[in-house]
Amino acid sequence: MPLKSHTCGELRPSHIGQTVTLAGWVHRRRDHGRLIFIDLRDRWGLAQVVFSPDTSPEAYAAATELRLEYVIQVKGIVVRRPQGMENPDLPTGEVEVTAQQLTVLNTAKTPPFYINEDALVDETLRLRYRYLDLRRQRMQRNIILRHRVVKFIREFLCDEGFIEIETPILFKSTPEGARDYLVPSRLHPGNFYALPQSPQQLKQLLMVAGFERYFQIARCFRDEDQRGDRQPEFTQLDMEMSFVDRDDVMDVVERLYTAVIEQLSDRQLLFKPFPRLSYAEAMRRFGTDSPDMRFGMELVEITDLVAGSAFRVFADVVAAGGIVKGLRLPGGASYSRKQVDELTELVRTFGAQGLISMALDDRGEVRSPLVKALDQECLHAIIQRMEAAPGDLLLFVADRPAVANEALARLRLALGDRLGLRDNKVLALCWVIDFPFLVWNEQEGRWDPSHHPFTAPMDEDLPLLDSDPGKARGKQYDLVCNGYEIAGGSIRIHRREVQEKVFQLIGLSLEQAKAQFGHLLEAFEYGTPPHGGIAPGIDRFVMLLAGEPNIREVIAFPKSQSAMDLMAGAPSPVSPEQLKELHLRLDL
Ligand code: AMO
Repeated sequence: MPLKSHTCGELRPSHIGQTVTLAGWVHRRRDHGRLIFIDLRDRWGLAQVVFSPDTSPEAYAAATELRLEYVIQVKGIVVRRPQGMENPDLPTGEVEVTAQQLTVLNTAKTPPFYINEDALVDETLRLRYRYLDLRRQRMQRNIILRHRVVKFIREFLCDEGFIEIETPILFKSTPEGARDYLVPSRLHPGNFYALPQSPQQLKQLLMVAGFERYFQIARCFRDEDQRGDRQPEFTQLDMEMSFVDRDDVMDVVERLYTAVIEQLSDRQLLFKPFPRLSYAEAMRRFGTDSPDMRFGMELVEITDLVAGSAFRVFADVVAAGGIVKGLRLPGGASYSRKQVDELTELVRTFGAQGLISMALDDRGEVRSPLVKALDQECLHAIIQRMEAAPGDLLLFVADRPAVANEALARLRLALGDRLGLRDNKVLALCWVIDFPFLVWNEQEGRWDPSHHPFTAPMDEDLPLLDSDPGKARGKQYDLVCNGYEIAGGSIRIHRREVQEKVFQLIGLSLEQAKAQFGHLLEAFEYGTPPHGGIAPGIDRFVMLLAGEPNIREVIAFPKSQSAMDLMAGAPSPVSPEQLKELHLRLDL
């Protein structure tokens, strides 16, 4: 027999007169002398329970002992609340339960923070007592939203003919650009499994195996520096499809995301369909390949206008192959020197030398270090190019393209925050396509794949792999939302000779390629269909749907910023016996 007949959240006037048994936690307690009010909480909501010595002296006496978070069972009758005592904020607010019996199922120590308030609590404390933190309404809401999203995804994809297949966690290194987590093998001394950075190779092998449409809610492991949108282990909706091109994969994901947002959230989807930007366009307009498109304030290049000019800061950078770009802050002419200095400090933290400002006062007079050096015509051309109006502030960075773009992209986001343009009730999704196939690795003096080594180059760019690899574009696509990359995928290489060539280009000898990826190369010789896929990050998407600032808020048991489990205390030392069994000796 369940210990409850009804949930706390379901009681309505239609239950009036019924005898019910509820069970849950003491959420709030108010003692009004001869009446004790308890807000009883379970996963479904709150119910008000009233104890009175007139109804049941025993239950009333027991209720005087109740403390917050005690686990109790109450039997009583549902009655209408007295007039004027209704709580319109609560779904159960029209009724209450007159208690006849109380059983204390368990007591509770005083929790280290309030469960019944959404107060700011130190995150270390929250993670240490995560099971209590998860009791709080905000976390219950987030975790339940996550469940609903994953359920929706499963049903949607099953309806589209996808099947869910599990792939191993103990596997071989799959490069996704991070360090591997390694697991020593007891049975094979000196050998290690690697936890998958993603199921990339396995899902491709499932295409070789003929499944055609696969998905998995897959756990991935990456030993990399933590950020608000990164965890050492995280979850992807991993997908792969055979006999498709880029548009087919993007179409499924776009329909899925549109449906999830519209059906499961109260967020406003800004663009339908999602705009598509080439990598080059994203960099040009926003300085980043994951643009926040909720607002404008786009970057504008003025390199050609200031090349060879008398303003040395600009001219020298351009002469050395750099660029000059800027953005327009509407109404920013009133910014104080101190405010502009703060913005300069900000771009410096992202490696830029400085920020050159140009303010147009209300009469259109220009205040700027540029005034002395540039002639009227040039100033006018800049103002026109920037589409500046009186009252605006223009801010410029001159630097190597990568530095100027990064600094301005960060500046744009900071200004967007200041102006309140980054409303998290709005979701702006866009696709970024036509990425460079390879990026030059300065340190190692070789090419790196810009996505991963299994992405196919554009058919028409295949000859460039021999003549000018840096110019080749890949069949890669990223889905971006509000400045976060929320999915990445590509059409894959499915021919052995192309895959071998790419391995060579990224510095793997034939022997190394065979040792690491022999199984994949071999599989490619047995009738591999053209295929491609994508992997949306579930954590990041749910974070955005929930309006949370980081992915820890939507993961039941996340690691801390320093990759630790503060509740269980992991990682932790192991016994000498365990190490011996694994044939390991520590060298600390
Ligand atoms: P990629 O490495 O781009 O692609 O990852 C896909 C998506 O996974 C999410 N993500 C993360 N989320 C939380 N913490 C992390 N440390 C983390 N790293 C990545 C992001 C990202 O867009 N195998 C390919 C996919 C493919 O080609 O099909 C892959 O893993 O949302």
